[in-house]
Amino acid sequence: MDTSAHDVLLVGGGGAGLRAAIAISEFNPKLSVAVVSKVYPMRSHTVSAEGGAAGVIKPNDTLDEHCYDTISGGDWMCDQDAVELFVREAPKELLRLEHWGCPWSREPDGHVAVRPFGGMKNERTWFAADKTGFHMLHTLFQTSLKYPSVRRYDEWFVTKLLIDDGQVRGVVAIELMTGRIQAILAKSVIICTGGCGKVFPFTTNANIKNGDGMSLALRAGAPLKDMEFVQYHPTGLPFTGILITEAARAEGGWLLNKDGYRYLQDYNLGKPEPTPVLRSMELGPRDRLSQAFVKEYEKGRTIETPYGHVVHLDVRHLGEKKINAKIPFVRELCLKYQGIDPVREMIPVRPVVHYMMGGVSTDINAATPIKGLFAAGEAACVSINGANRLGSNSLTELLVFGARAGLHAAQFASEQKEGNTAAILAQAIDEKRRVEDQFLNKTAGRESISTIREEMQKAMEEGAGIYRTHDSLAKAAETIGKLQERFKDIAISDHSHTFNTELTAAFELSYMLDVAEAIIACALNRKESRGSHQRTDFTKRDDEKFLAHSLVYRNADGSTRVEYLPVTITRWPPAERVYGK
Ligand code: FUM
Repeated sequence: MDTSAHDVLLVGGGGAGLRAAIAISEFNPKLSVAVVSKVYPMRSHTVSAEGGAAGVIKPNDTLDEHCYDTISGGDWMCDQDAVELFVREAPKELLRLEHWGCPWSREPDGHVAVRPFGGMKNERTWFAADKTGFHMLHTLFQTSLKYPSVRRYDEWFVTKLLIDDGQVRGVVAIELMTGRIQAILAKSVIICTGGCGKVFPFTTNANIKNGDGMSLALRAGAPLKDMEFVQYHPTGLPFTGILITEAARAEGGWLLNKDGYRYLQDYNLGKPEPTPVLRSMELGPRDRLSQAFVKEYEKGRTIETPYGHVVHLDVRHLGEKKINAKIPFVRELCLKYQGIDPVREMIPVRPVVHYMMGGVSTDINAATPIKGLFAAGEAACVSINGANRLGSNSLTELLVFGARAGLHAAQFASEQKEGNTAAILAQAIDEKRRVEDQFLNKTAGRESISTIREEMQKAMEEGAGIYRTHDSLAKAAETIGKLQERFKDIAISDHSHTFNTELTAAFELSYMLDVAEAIIACALNRKESRGSHQRTDFTKRDDEKFLAHSLVYRNADGSTRVEYLPVTITRWPPAERVYGK
């Protein structure tokens, strides 16, 4: 079997992965770094982030206020030591990006501009028009090119983490262009594969976001943390799910129901004002805004369309000049994908799955409980986002914890000697055989990938959506369990070796089924309502029983178990979340 070996291996080449690669090379340019990504790095989902990245920079703002906004926004599920570190490092990372060439939007006097964002008390969201993710990823990508020790495996698909004696030793991956299956060995591995929005039918996420790294870690024995907390973004386009950035509301956009009424005033989010008020109305947190949409729907005040119910996002009063200057991408997306011009027409929007607060459980150094295995970005849960992430914290998170993961993985790798290569290669050969037997050489099977995927997405939306109950979750659990069984009976019809997308779709579905199971297991056990996890059968937050992170593990027999880990509280004891004041 073909093998290659590196010091540190990254699974995923998006923002967190590239930031980690740079940190490793800065720590020691002699360390050999492998970036294994199923897509060319510039196609990673970071590229589509729009609104901005949070970090205190203006004199009227403070680190403590950023901490408090994040912690209260997360409904007190954030680990406060992690939040304090994050907030402290945030401006330094954003400035570092500036020095590497990121074209942040500016004030007329040349200073970096910031905009308000949902749930934030002060203006602290740095932006590059409304294509922030594109510019950040481009900056990271071009910076990573400086380092000859970074070897990229573009369009390689990871099927397994290799673990020996409780320590990670590398991965098995398929080179998509040739179909070659190879062992790529490493002394430490960082998972930075992003989230898993495609587990649900309507999502802002790219098709590549299938929870690959989360499932790989779970199968390797690492727990996933806080998987019940799934973020719906309140303003996605119907049908496509394309994100209409919160920046549209930050610049002054209104959410209107079918009567043209700014309905958020009915949901403890303040009263309409002529100009946007921080932490109020359309600048409230995402969980509350998405929940308000459901309530409006139940009152019959939403608008029916062929692609489900919507409300309107109105930015017409901002005028063409401001729209073109501040949110040009919103206009472009509406024109191209919705056939409307927001300068003259209202934008139909609905809540769409956007982000996973949960992920591979890590400590503050991005380390998982498996020796040598680290995780960062949306794939990880450190946890700074708690039960509801504030918009614009995640782009900064991937910088802060991407860098931290890189540094700690590099230090770990530097201390290691060669492992038991024979045992690892035997494992890799077994995995190659599994891929061939289960997919490539298998001809008989009654199930299709697309049917199972569609049924999974439907079950998740119906059972584990914005509002959940024991019954809805139990039904979803039963469906996903059956789909896991049925998955064993799929057979792919494409047995070719060149860019076999049916093969990768099969793997991705298997990863998503694992993640779906984890989400439901955590949601069923959490008998309270907190942030994005709203149980209509347990409507109150219950700090007595549930001020704790869920840790979901996979047992040897394939079943899951959920354990709890106390939340770290440093300076901000649990309190009520108050908005609109
Ligand atoms: O609306 C947005 O631009 C999304 C930002 C985020 O999720 O951080």
